Amino acid sequence: MDKIGFGGDYNPEQWPEDVWDLDMALFAEAHVDMLTVNVFSWATLQPDEHTFDFAVLDRILEKLAAAGKVVCLATSTAAHPAWMACAYPDVTRVDFEGRRHVFGQRHNSCPNSPAYRRFSVELARRIAQRYGAPDHPAAGVIAAWHVNNEYGGTCYCEHCGAAFRVWLRERYGTLDALNEAWSTAFWSHTFHAWEEIVPPSALSEHWGGPDVTAFQGITLDYLRFNSDSLLQNFIDEKAAIREFSDLPVTTNFMGMYRSLDYFRWAPHMDFVSWDNYPPDAQSHARVALTHDLMRGLKGGQPFWLMEQTPSQTACRPFNPVKRPGVMRLWSYQAVAHGADAVLFFQMRQSRGASEKDHGAVITHGGRSDTRVFREVAGLGEELEALAGEIVGARTPAKVALVFDWDSWWAVEISDGPSRHVSYQQTLIAYYRALYERNVAVDVVPADADLSQYDVVVAPLLHMVKDGVAARVEAFVEGGGVFVTSFLSGRVDESDNAFEMDAPGPLAHILGIRIEETDALAPEDLNAVVFDDVPAANGVVPDRGGARFAASLVFDLVQPGTAEVVGVYESDFYAGTAAVTRNVVGKAEMPGEAWYVGTNLDAGGLRWLFEGVLRARGLLNCYSGVPGVEAVARYRDDVRYLFLLNHGDATSRVVADMDGVSLLTQAVVGAGESVMLVPKAVVILKSAQTQ
Ligand code: GLA
Ligand code: ZN
Repeated sequence: MDKIGFGGDYNPEQWPEDVWDLDMALFAEAHVDMLTVNVFSWATLQPDEHTFDFAVLDRILEKLAAAGKVVCLATSTAAHPAWMACAYPDVTRVDFEGRRHVFGQRHNSCPNSPAYRRFSVELARRIAQRYGAPDHPAAGVIAAWHVNNEYGGTCYCEHCGAAFRVWLRERYGTLDALNEAWSTAFWSHTFHAWEEIVPPSALSEHWGGPDVTAFQGITLDYLRFNSDSLLQNFIDEKAAIREFSDLPVTTNFMGMYRSLDYFRWAPHMDFVSWDNYPPDAQSHARVALTHDLMRGLKGGQPFWLMEQTPSQTACRPFNPVKRPGVMRLWSYQAVAHGADAVLFFQMRQSRGASEKDHGAVITHGGRSDTRVFREVAGLGEELEALAGEIVGARTPAKVALVFDWDSWWAVEISDGPSRHVSYQQTLIAYYRALYERNVAVDVVPADADLSQYDVVVAPLLHMVKDGVAARVEAFVEGGGVFVTSFLSGRVDESDNAFEMDAPGPLAHILGIRIEETDALAPEDLNAVVFDDVPAANGVVPDRGGARFAASLVFDLVQPGTAEVVGVYESDFYAGTAAVTRNVVGKAEMPGEAWYVGTNLDAGGLRWLFEGVLRARGLLNCYSGVPGVEAVARYRDDVRYLFLLNHGDATSRVVADMDGVSLLTQAVVGAGESVMLVPKAVVILKSAQTQ
């Protein structure tokens, strides 16, 4: 689409056709132009193994085509029909406890079941053949293919076990290599035949749930394998679609979803799309990080917000409605971070089952004079008026945050030093310190090219795969600032410890070694006391010393070439290094490698990054405005600056450039003050190249 797509998941098959006409009228009123259809229709499309019936889908697509809508057409393979589970009991999954499931729910198929693989690919092929053919009336309205829905979960069945062994053979080649990688000499686990290997579950290696395993190497490989198995389902359906259509193919991701390594998926996606259901109304930093991660999956390419609720969810113990203005604010937050479509789940509220109380654009009453409908229609009108603005614009950044699924898995399945360390919470905490200063961040994989960044932040880089340390060294030697944290540099690609001092291959560039790592109960706090340190380029921040709470993990850091920036306040290691900085190179702008040996509180991270960002000239005039998020997208010679007031108080910012406020057409001069009432959105369009 050459404008920001607006609409969402639409399931008209749940109503008689006269309701569809009402919907079309309401869509027009709400300026809705894009509908995702056919997400959960398998049982209708294929009532038995040998029969296909596209009559209802034909009529849905005809109706949408006649109404001038654009369609995101799903393949319906995320919930298999009941007849399939009866005739082929192995399409259902075996869970972690070893229980074979029967028909029920959705997202329920074993990815390695031969029946599921055959039937899902066949359905995708038939749908693509029918609607992707250039002479089909629907072909002109399809904007993209939506494969499956929210891939996820894990299966432990015998098919998965067999496929795991094939995957392992491909990965390791020989049993010797596998035994070496998994350190099977420990606890007499040496495997002498591939058939001896079974999925790690409650029946085998695990005694305390999916994260508590006797063999990290096995569990880690099963996590990778499971992600790859589901990815293979996507690849197979996509290939079937490609036989008939060149249109872009996606599947809706779930943001920071632990089970799937989306960096491994991204190369197979034509564009990324994701579903945003924040846990609470205070999580805009977390949502911003997730948008940046989704944008980072394909190197900055714009993505779609495939789903968000217009008002409330239904699956949580309590489900607050979005307060007035919040849906609009969060929609623009998505656009600011790179979304080219803003879509809802759902367009019309279900009559029955578990989502009948889930928010919808059109609720059971079918009215347009509701608060939610009016807010949706208002946003639709604005996006329509924006026409071709913003679409395709990029969001460049000088700061990168490393996000590594392998480290996420490895640090959370590790026995020791602490089970209380959360990868996600730690990354959010580091991101927040950047976000609050309104510094643009790219989220990158561990093997990214770092050379285009000034600052690279890699908290909990627990696993250091081959080549990563060398890239970090080259980055710092080239003048970059690298910041990493406790529990980084601890294991190799197979989750084996490095036979050297922690932080392993990162120790050299960090100029430290860690002798012990203390880990305490979450309530047992220590503190880090900072002294003001001059930046490596001589700039002294001049803000006095400071003291911040530290928790969970306490590395006892022995500085080598690094200087001590912060020390522990108490315990037997009081006065010893907690935070260090290694200055590398003698150039005008030397590189710096920072190590944060403990879980610093938010104030501590703010203090640390304030210094780093200021020294590198990365703070901007929007850095100090509480509650206001400032993000820019660039296209050709234009900058679109989004100013979003997440706070509950009116804020004022001073425009840094001449521009036009796109939503009001008001002209704003550089230096003029812009008033932002709570939940306000201002988009300033200015002439500027990145
Ligand atoms: C997910 C699914 C949708 C719907 C929503 C409800 O995102 O993809 O089908 O269940 O959640 O929030
Ligand atoms: Zn299985």
